[in-house]
Amino acid sequence: MNLITATDLTNDLRKLEIDIEKSVSEDEFIQEICTPLLRGGKRLRPILFLLCARSKNFCSPEKALPLATALELIHTASLVHDDILDSAKKRRGVETLNSKYGAQIAVLVGDYLFAKAFQLVAENDYGNEVSLILSKLVKKLCIGEIMQDRKLFVVPTLSEYYRQIDLKTAFFLSTCCRLGGIVAQLEKSDVENLANYGTSLGLAFQIVDDLLDFFGEENITGKALGGDLKGGVITLPVIRALRIGKNSDTLKKILAQDKISNAEVLTAIKIIRETDAVEYCKNRAASHIYCARLDLPNDIDKSVKNSLEKIADFVINRNW
Ligand code: FPP
Ligand code: MG
Repeated sequence: MNLITATDLTNDLRKLEIDIEKSVSEDEFIQEICTPLLRGGKRLRPILFLLCARSKNFCSPEKALPLATALELIHTASLVHDDILDSAKKRRGVETLNSKYGAQIAVLVGDYLFAKAFQLVAENDYGNEVSLILSKLVKKLCIGEIMQDRKLFVVPTLSEYYRQIDLKTAFFLSTCCRLGGIVAQLEKSDVENLANYGTSLGLAFQIVDDLLDFFGEENITGKALGGDLKGGVITLPVIRALRIGKNSDTLKKILAQDKISNAEVLTAIKIIRETDAVEYCKNRAASHIYCARLDLPNDIDKSVKNSLEKIADFVINRNW
């Protein structure tokens, strides 16, 4: 079965970019502030939604695009707020709103994007189920951030780490796939399988993100190196290095400080590199991707399935 072509998908993505730009065009100041930030994203969430929305029964772009845009806006709003919490300076290759305009403006711009997302949902009659799923998503994102904030500089157990990355990333990707399946009117079991694909993909995505925070290139990832460590967010590479590294005492000392310098970030990176932490994280991410591929339903559109498999490969091989 092959309902859509690569051209359909390319057209969807072109329209998505136009709709994202349009979503901030009502107010000049909002437009000026948001456009550079909105231009920089990978669009992973709306792309997952759009693919799943086209995975079986025909769903018109007119029906799918407003929700795809809303998902990107919710994601961007959460990043704007996340950057305030992290006092981050760079996001998507541009200066963060909190750094450029101050935290007060950044809070309000995040709220604006968030409200705009719900406007798009309300205007396009997706129904109560979709609204409830979106509110559950935002509540989970908030709980994830609160949990993270309460545990800064504390080394989490593996299961605490997994709970954290599920709340902040995997649940979002899973929700995008679930919503796509719902809009496409798939059978319940297929919706669940797509949602499970999204969960595994999201776990892998966040593990790779946590690696890139130490080993990525700033001009490619678009954010400063070592941001997690400096902000006290202890992620899988550190958890692993602390468990098995011969220099874990030095790493512990670095973590025990109020303020972590750039030189200490470099020391931490060296210590992590001396262990098997990079390989360990890559292996874990790869095993989630393996599960993600297995969860893809067989009876969906072939080119959609193919694209979802390519996304799975992108997630573990990416450097941005
Ligand atoms: C980035 O993760 C942060 C998130 C994915 C979630 C942020 C969520 C909130 C601030 C609460 C929800 C708010 C709204 C308005 C929906 P990260 O810090 O691991 O990644 P990073 O390195 O890119 O910052
Ligand atoms: Mg952050």
